[in-house]
Amino acid sequence: MADRPYIVGNWKMNGTRAMLSEARAIDRAAQRYMKAEVAVAPPYTLIHAVHREAEQIGIGAQDCHADVDGAHTGDISAAMVADAGAKFVILGHSERRADHKESNAQINAKIGHALEAGLRIILCCGETLATREKGDAEAFVLKQLKASLPKIEDAAERLTVAYEPVWAIGTGKTATPKDIAAMHKAIRGLLDETYGPEVSAEVRILYGGSVKPENAKEILSIPEVGGALVGGASLSSESFLGIVVAASETEEA
Ligand code: PGA
Repeated sequence: MADRPYIVGNWKMNGTRAMLSEARAIDRAAQRYMKAEVAVAPPYTLIHAVHREAEQIGIGAQDCHADVDGAHTGDISAAMVADAGAKFVILGHSERRADHKESNAQINAKIGHALEAGLRIILCCGETLATREKGDAEAFVLKQLKASLPKIEDAAERLTVAYEPVWAIGTGKTATPKDIAAMHKAIRGLLDETYGPEVSAEVRILYGGSVKPENAKEILSIPEVGGALVGGASLSSESFLGIVVAASETEEA
């Protein structure tokens, strides 16, 4: 399972029911590329509908609340997204950290509830350009992860980490293969330390930030990279499937 590249589309705040045809196209095609594990995280409003349409691909949510339930108008809990058909949830995305001032402690709390609700987790981390230019990228990312990684038993089995440099998201810029490999190695080191090497080996580390069909093969061939978290290019089945094809053609696949 963990050795298949994991290609996850994050639709962000995009998509009405008109997008269901894209989900159907992705699902149909995914059957032909079984060397890759394919998933999409539509907005909350489409989770149930995509879940009903798609049989082959994984369906997830883009966030959930840090409390189990209660007086939080407009928010959605982990149990609710699971009930709608989500099997995983993306947590700690840099857009949530920036737009909603989410802290590592809050993200850790969300992870706890999501695991209790039976969900798998994609935990995001990544540095800003200013942090990278100061030479602090690795220390920053490891600090984010140390403060948010779940420590509860069996958590690692349901965990994926996504390294997404903030300056590469939606900008058309990507980190160099050398920088991606170095950061992924550092993250692996922390996972080894936290869970032990055997359990850590089951945790895939994805890269995210302007992954497109044109650069997917180069990025996915980096041995440390276990897949991709894809924003913009996941909004059309054609470009998303271009990445899925690249993933199923990489040597490791
Ligand atoms: P992008 O987004 O592919 O549009 O850069 C990636 C992400 O935010 O997950």
